[in-house]
Amino acid sequence: MKSPTLAHQHHFLSGGKTINRFPNLNARLHSSPFTVRMAQRDDGPSIAVVGVTGAVGQEFLSVLSDRSFPYKSIKMLASKRSAGKHLTFEDKDYVVEELTEESFHGVDIALFSAGGSISKHFGPIAVDSGSIVVDNSSAFRMVDGVPLVIPEVNPDAMSHIKIGTGKGALIANPNCSTIICLMAATPLHRHAKVLRMVVSTYQAASGAGAAAMEELVLQTREVLEGKEPTCNIFNQQYAFNLFSHNAPVLSNGYNEEEMKLVKETRKIWNDKDVKVTATCIRVPVMRAHAESVNLQFETPLDEDTAREILKKAPGVVIIDDRSGNRFPTPLEVSNKDDVAVGRIRQDLSQDGNYGLDIFVCGDQIRKGAALNAIQIAEMLL
Ligand SMILES: NC(=O)c1ccc[n+]([C@@H]2O[C@H](COP(=O)([O-])OP(=O)(O)OC[C@H]3O[C@@H](n4cnc5c(N)ncnc54)[C@H](OP(=O)(O)O)[C@@H]3O)[C@@H](O)[C@H]2O)c1
Repeated sequence: MKSPTLAHQHHFLSGGKTINRFPNLNARLHSSPFTVRMAQRDDGPSIAVVGVTGAVGQEFLSVLSDRSFPYKSIKMLASKRSAGKHLTFEDKDYVVEELTEESFHGVDIALFSAGGSISKHFGPIAVDSGSIVVDNSSAFRMVDGVPLVIPEVNPDAMSHIKIGTGKGALIANPNCSTIICLMAATPLHRHAKVLRMVVSTYQAASGAGAAAMEELVLQTREVLEGKEPTCNIFNQQYAFNLFSHNAPVLSNGYNEEEMKLVKETRKIWNDKDVKVTATCIRVPVMRAHAESVNLQFETPLDEDTAREILKKAPGVVIIDDRSGNRFPTPLEVSNKDDVAVGRIRQDLSQDGNYGLDIFVCGDQIRKGAALNAIQIAEMLL
């Protein structure tokens, strides 16, 4: 079943009446039906969703419903600005509450997606209250002892964390580009060991949150009408343009998004020697990231074997039609759980079968954020 789109999701959220913040997204983005599956049950965990009004927060609700995640109760938490707004989830009306230090009493699992500073402050408070925090921000990803988990890749990293012990814990969700890349690269890595990986990303507006999506819609309309585009979220024109990722640039010339790919891959693969380099680009796509990934292996791996390995990989689909020139696109993977891989080919610049090029697309609000976090929560049940 498909999840609601962001446009649909914001219909559920209101300050008394229904609002639609994305009235002009294209027809394809409007096409997903929302089917409700009730999973409220007395023996389920109590959940809190922190940042419930945001792009990822709204997707948390869709994924919880899609996967019939069992829950006893759900607290809908956001900032003071949203407190008091009404939200419908699984046919029940909820009032959004302001996140406070008291929010986590009796909460078994807290799903965080409200930014790094909120996680840094409230994550440890939730843990002290006995909650298991699954955090979508970058706040704790590289902290020693905090598992950084993609369930298909390294589930064992969190095997010591159990629910119902009264003991809180933190689990970090990796960066969205890292998740999408490693969903495809890991099965190949397991077979032939990746020595070096070169990643180039084409990242969607949705990766920067709900307001960035709104700005892309607004700018597109403004440019078509011959007006100056409004630049509030990004400091330059986004519609009909592309630019280096908006994350801060570090003294080594890489931006923070690129360094996340470098560092998180090493932690997830538990391989401090794997060489990773990345160039991250924001493109005017509404939803879902694309990535070109070049791999260099320790042992030979030909493209047919790679295709067979990827065919069997959980959470991966292959779209690789050379004669039809049809390969993965962001539109095709939007609102989908699976990461799509195509352009699977031998890297001509490397001798023998030691190199491969692949092109990967994944919905980074879904597998890159909410779905991955809820798969982590499912492993706690
Ligand atoms: N978008 C993605 O694809 C993606 C992927 C992976 C990870 N993430 C991470 O997930 C987090 C959220 O991203 P997003 O894209 O969902 O952003 P977003 O659409 O801008 O949503 C931000 C959410 O945080 C809440 N918030 C802001 N300040 C708060 C405060 N002081 N107290 C409580 N809640 C507060 C907002 O509530 P109000 O509506 O009340 O302001 C909103 O619910 C970020 O850490 C981001 O890096 C995002």
